[in-house]
Amino acid sequence: MIDAKNVEGLAGIVAGQTAISTVGKEGVGLTYRGYSVEDLAREATFEEVAYLLIDGALPSRTQLEDYRHKLMSLRTLPDKLKTVLEQLPAGTHPMDVLRTGCSALGAFEPESAARGQVDIADRLLALFPSILLYWLHFQNNGARIDTASDAPGTAWHFLELLGGEAPSDLDERALDVALILYAEHEFNASTFTCRTIASTLADFYSAVTGGIGALRGPLHGGANESAMQLMQKFHTPDQAEQGLLEMLARKDLIMGFGHRVYKSSDPRSEVIKPWANKLAEAHADQCLMPVAERLEAVMRREKNIFPNLDFYSAPLFHFLDIPTSLFTPLFVIARITGWSAHIFEQRAHNRLIRPTAEYIGPPPRPFVPLAKR
Ligand SMILES: CC(C)(COP(=O)(O)OP(=O)(O)OC[C@H]1O[C@@H](n2cnc3c(N)ncnc32)[C@H](O)[C@@H]1OP(=O)(O)O)[C@@H](O)C(=O)NCCC(=O)NCCS
Repeated sequence: MIDAKNVEGLAGIVAGQTAISTVGKEGVGLTYRGYSVEDLAREATFEEVAYLLIDGALPSRTQLEDYRHKLMSLRTLPDKLKTVLEQLPAGTHPMDVLRTGCSALGAFEPESAARGQVDIADRLLALFPSILLYWLHFQNNGARIDTASDAPGTAWHFLELLGGEAPSDLDERALDVALILYAEHEFNASTFTCRTIASTLADFYSAVTGGIGALRGPLHGGANESAMQLMQKFHTPDQAEQGLLEMLARKDLIMGFGHRVYKSSDPRSEVIKPWANKLAEAHADQCLMPVAERLEAVMRREKNIFPNLDFYSAPLFHFLDIPTSLFTPLFVIARITGWSAHIFEQRAHNRLIRPTAEYIGPPPRPFVPLAKR
C-alpha cells in the first residue's frame, strides 16, 4: 500500500516538464524563463514579463511598444458581454464575474483557425480588468463605464478604471510589481488545472475558466482576501498577538502563511513587503503594517512559518484603495500570463493527463437486487 501522507495533494510528485519557471530550486527561489523574479521585479515592467512568459524571450523596445499597443486596442468589451455582466445578481463574487466573463467570451469570440491561442491570451490579458471594473461600476451605481483607454500598462489601466483618474507613479509601480510577482508559479493548483483541461484538447477558454475556479479557494488565490480580513480584525499589534495566539491554540489555519514548495521563506514576500511599507509610509499608516508585522513575528516564533506572497500583497492592495473582494481577481489579471504560457506548452507536447488511483474501497462482492435489500 502507498503511504497516504506521501501522495495526498501530490506533494513532491513531478507531474510533467516545463521550461517556463522554477519554484524553490536550490540557490534561486523563483525564476521565469531563467530570470530571477527579484531582477524582474526591480528592472522590468509587467508587460515585459507577460511578453517573456508568453513568447519565451524578453521583448526588444519595438516589440514591447507593439505589444503594449496591441493590448490597448483590445480593452473594449463586446456589447453582448456587457449584457451578460449586467445580468449577474447583486452580491456575485468578483471571481465568479471573471469566471463567467471568460466563459461567455469563449462563446462570443470562440477559438478558431482565424482566432488562435496567442490572440486569445492577449485578449484575456487586456480584457480582464475591463470585465471586472465594468461590472463593479454597474453593480455599485448603474454606471456603464467606457473601458477603452490608452493607459500604457495593465496596472495603470486597472487603477484608472477603478478610481476614475490616472494613478500616481508610486501606486502604478507598486501594483505593477505585484502583478509581476503573481504572474507565474509553475505547477500550482490553478495552472495544473489549466494544463489538465488543455490536455483533453478542449478550447483555450475552457482551460482558463477552470483555472479561475481553482484559484478562487482560500488555500490558493483566495488567501489574500482572508489575510486582509485577519489583519483588519485588530487595531494594535498587542491585540493582534493575543488574537493570533488564540487562533493557533484552536489550531486554526492562518491565511497568507506557509507554502507547499518553499520551506523557509517565499521570495515573493521579500519583494512585496518593502513595497507595502512604501505605500504605508505614503498613507501615514500607524495600524495595518504594525499589525501585519506582529502577526508575521508571532507566526515565526510560534510555528516557524513564514508569510507567502498573499500576506503582504493584502495591505499593498488595501493602500491602493482596492476593495478586498478584488484581491483574488487581481491574481487572475496577472496569472493569465502564466496560465497562457502553460496551455501553449501543454499543447505543444500534449499527452492526456490521466493519473491512476490506489483503490481503498470494498473488495469485489455480489450485487444484491433491490427486492432483496
Ligand atoms: C499553502 C498550504 C496549503 C500548504 O499546505 P501543505 O503543503 O499541505 O502543508 P501542510 O498542511 O502539510 O502543513 C504542514 C504543517 O504546518 C501547518 N501549517 C501550514 N500552513 C499553516 C498556516 N497557514 N497556519 C497554521 N498552520 C499551518 C500545518 O497545520 C501542518 O501542521 P502539522 O504538521 O502539525 O499538521 C498551507 O500552508 C496553508 O493552508 N496556508 C494558508 C493558505 C494560504 O496562505 N495559501 C496561499 C498559498 S501561496
